[in-house]
Amino acid sequence: MSSTPTLSPAPPAGAPAAPTPAALGELARAVAGRPDRWRPAVRFDAAARFHTRLEVTGGHEVWLLTWLPGQGTEIHDHGGAAGAFTVVAGVLTERAFPASGGAPRARELAAGGLRSFGPRYVHEVVNAGTEPAVSIHAYAPALAAMSYYAELPGGGLRPVRTDPVTD
Ligand SMILES: [Fe+2]
Repeated sequence: MSSTPTLSPAPPAGAPAAPTPAALGELARAVAGRPDRWRPAVRFDAAARFHTRLEVTGGHEVWLLTWLPGQGTEIHDHGGAAGAFTVVAGVLTERAFPASGGAPRARELAAGGLRSFGPRYVHEVVNAGTEPAVSIHAYAPALAAMSYYAELPGGGLRPVRTDPVTD
């Protein structure tokens, strides 16, 4: 007996549906709106960009990241996780790389700014401003590994490495 193939199998009966990017955005905003949940964890580290998990469940996790001026990520994906992030202090600049290989799109996110994305999203985030920045990030499922990329001179990306995500 044959069955009709589906693009994404249904979760097992009783399993909660994976949060959508929009739901992760709402989660990030909800945590951002509760400074008592993240402000005590804020640290700034000139040697390495500071990050810490605020919350982890079976279905999602929430991180706090801080960014001194000049600190930023490499170009990266999220290992198949969907995600969202919102800025609570300072200004972050994101470059998002389209799956088509076209030119990246840059945008600035000031406090209250929000980005939500699906599982194949590739971007780079930097604090190009003059003030320290703080952001709240939500991912589902929890980050297990992330791949990093280099820009090719003529456009497009080249995979560089994949690292496990640890605390
Ligand atoms: Fe990211």
